[in-house]
Amino acid sequence: MQPGSRDEEIQRSWEANADAWSTAIREERLPSRSVTSPAVLEMILRCNPTSVLDVGCGEGWLIRALTQRGIDALGVDGSEELIERARWAGHGRYRVATYQDLIAEEPGEAPYDVIVCNFSLFDRDLAPLFRALRSMLTDNGSLVIQTLHPYTSLQGEPYQSGWRLETFASLGAGFTEPMPWYARTMEDWWLELDEAGLRIAQLREPRSPEGTLLSMILVATPVVGE
Ligand SMILES: C[S@@+](CC[C@H](N)C(=O)[O-])C[C@H]1O[C@@H](n2cnc3c(N)ncnc32)[C@H](O)[C@@H]1O
Repeated sequence: MQPGSRDEEIQRSWEANADAWSTAIREERLPSRSVTSPAVLEMILRCNPTSVLDVGCGEGWLIRALTQRGIDALGVDGSEELIERARWAGHGRYRVATYQDLIAEEPGEAPYDVIVCNFSLFDRDLAPLFRALRSMLTDNGSLVIQTLHPYTSLQGEPYQSGWRLETFASLGAGFTEPMPWYARTMEDWWLELDEAGLRIAQLREPRSPEGTLLSMILVATPVVGE
């Protein structure tokens, strides 16, 4: 991790906000999660996986949900505190690892039927991570990504990819470090995955009961021969 890099800022923010984030999730302070969490779980279960890797698993809610359904699920996250909280809540297996670690390491327990990144991709250059994740998928495996929708990420800016700042202001007290994150257009999601030999096979746009767009879910699969 380069000192002073965006990646460092992102990880520092999660380390500083780990406690506040766990509380926000466990006290259900994000109303959108009542839609987006079941939506990503459904997309994973449709793949009928026996093994899942959750990249940027946070305090581990998704690992618990998968493990309780008899799926062998491993969660990795760069924040030691979040992994500690996940382990403390029980169910599932966890490991502290940054995305740089995943890129640099041997694939470990791979292959996985599904690799999921649920609201956990914030950096601009994702192709190296996507290439590493692709190498950890079974031949018929799927990479499931849930992210803020490109349309709702505009925040008053023109429709182009670019850096934004998340202050976590709507989530209550305890968030001490804002987080830079890179919003990308639909075309740039496609290109970033394509560069890593992955193709978008399915796309969902979860909405609130009132019709508000809440997120985008992409399911990408390895391109054969690349
Ligand atoms: C918004 S939280 C989402 C957590 C979880 N996936 C969920 O659905 O609640 C983003 C997570 O990504 C992790 N993360 C972000 N960048 C990372 C990096 N470069 N290496 C490892 N973990 C990272 C953070 O530590 C944090 O736990």
